[in-house]
This record gives sequence, structure tokens and C-alpha cells, in this order.
Amino acid sequence: MAASDSKETTLAGIGRVPRHVAIIMDGNGRWAQQRGQPRHLGHRAGVDSVRRTIEACVEHGIEFLTLFAFSSENWRRPRSEVDMLMELFMVALAREIRKLDKNDIRLRVIGDVSAFPEKLQKQIAEAEQRTADNSGLLLQIAANYGGRWDITQAARRLAEEAVAGRLDPKDIDEACFARMTSFGEVPDPDLFIRTGGELRISNFLLWHCAYSELYFTPTLWPDFDKAAFVEALREYARRERRFGQISEQLDDRAGLG
Ligand code: IPE
Ligand code: IPE
Ligand code: MG
Repeated sequence: MAASDSKETTLAGIGRVPRHVAIIMDGNGRWAQQRGQPRHLGHRAGVDSVRRTIEACVEHGIEFLTLFAFSSENWRRPRSEVDMLMELFMVALAREIRKLDKNDIRLRVIGDVSAFPEKLQKQIAEAEQRTADNSGLLLQIAANYGGRWDITQAARRLAEEAVAGRLDPKDIDEACFARMTSFGEVPDPDLFIRTGGELRISNFLLWHCAYSELYFTPTLWPDFDKAAFVEALREYARRERRFGQISEQLDDRAGLG
């Protein structure tokens, strides 16, 4: 549970830097509407924010970045917006993959991708393969992702293992369960950011955010620049992570006193 913070680094001017940052990138539609533009232009502007945020993570030595791109509930949007988001995903992936690879970034897409158009599924598989051996930032894009879906699919996989006789139900503990979620061996997020002002989780990471530091900002996603990201990092560095303990038990570096 607290495994990730023992290896945190510190940066001058910021302090403790999270190993894993997860972000609900919200507010694209409102950003466009405030400018009298159609919502899709907000999504397009959001892609620039994604690029900036990836750069900021690399610059600050963050090891894992998980971005919520499309929720399992977003299918309920107007068909035209869903189609447009799929198209944007494909175009952005095609345009960015070479640069991601060149920068040693490993891409993983988490979520039920089987619901996506076949062309997109193929593109995702190719992008994951192409970057599989990279050892820099691990970028997880959550697409058709839901926290409840993830817990449910983990439970289903465990049940299948048990029925096949490969797993004794007595051996199912939290670590074993966590490995069956879409994160696999990836540690839980230390810092969980939501832009766009809503104060809810919207079925993003439910299992994994048990001890994440939550940071909500009214800044709309397309306006979330490097300075806004650094502000979130500064706020994180000021938090005391106790993991159930009391302050006196903590050493000065992490929550594992
Ligand atoms: C988040 O922005 C992006 C996706 C959900 C794909 P929204 O599209 O939810 O923007 P708002 O919340 O309507 O402003
Ligand atoms: C969450 O934002 C999903 C993503 C950012 C991908 P939503 O805009 O879909 O969330 P709600 O509907 O306001 O809770
Ligand atoms: Mg929204």
C-alpha cells in the first residue's frame, strides 16, 4: 500500500516528488464553450495539455503517469462527441507515438479496449509493442476505463484461476488482487489530480487511490500548464502521508516511519 513512497526523490524548490501521478483531465467542453467554440475544440486543446504534462513528468523525474482519457460512462455522450473522441485518440496516437518512443516513454492503455473500433485496437497494440522495452516514464492511458470495471475484471480473472485449479482462494490477498487489476505491478498513484472543478472521482481509480493524495483544481484541463502542474507537486510535497500512523512515527522523508 505504501510501497511507492520509499523511493521518492526530492527536488530543489519543490520537495518530495511523487513517483506516480494520476489525472482526471476534466473541463475540455467548458473551456471551449466559454470561448463560444464547439466542445471538440476543447478536446483538441486538451491534447496539447497532455503533451505538456508528459514533458513536465519527464522533467521532474516522475516514473508513472496515468491519464483518464475516456470513462466507461462517456459512451453515454452524444454519438457525435464519442466518434470525435475516438478519431482524436487515433490521430493523436499516430502523431505522437514516434516522439514518445524517442523519449524512452512506455505506453500502456488500461481499460476495456475491446469495445473500441478495430482500427484503434490495432493501433493501441502496435503502440504498446513499439514502446514495450522503453525504460523511461510509464504512461498509462485509461480509455473505456472504470474503477468498478477494473475491480470486477480482477475478480473474474481470480475466479477463473481458482476454477482452473491454479489458485487456492486462501492465497488471495491484497497484493494478489492488485496484480490482477489493470495496473499489474504498477504502484498506486501517490498524487491524484482532478482538473475542471468537480469534486468527485467519477469511477476512475477506486482500488488504487486508497491512499493517494487528492488534489482538486478549478483550472480547466486545456489551461493546465506546467506552472499549474508544479503547483500540484508543491502541494503534494507539503502533505504529510501517515498511512494510519501518527506524525511522531514518521521519518522526515516518507510515510514509512
Ligand atoms: C474531459 O472533459 C474529457 C473527457 C471526458 C473525454 P469534458 O468533456 O468532460 O469537459 P466538461 O467537463 O464538459 O467541461
Ligand atoms: C471524467 O470526466 C472522465 C474523464 C475525464 C475521461 P466526466 O466529465 O466524464 O465526469 P462527470 O460525468 O462530470 O462525473
Ligand atoms: Mg467533464
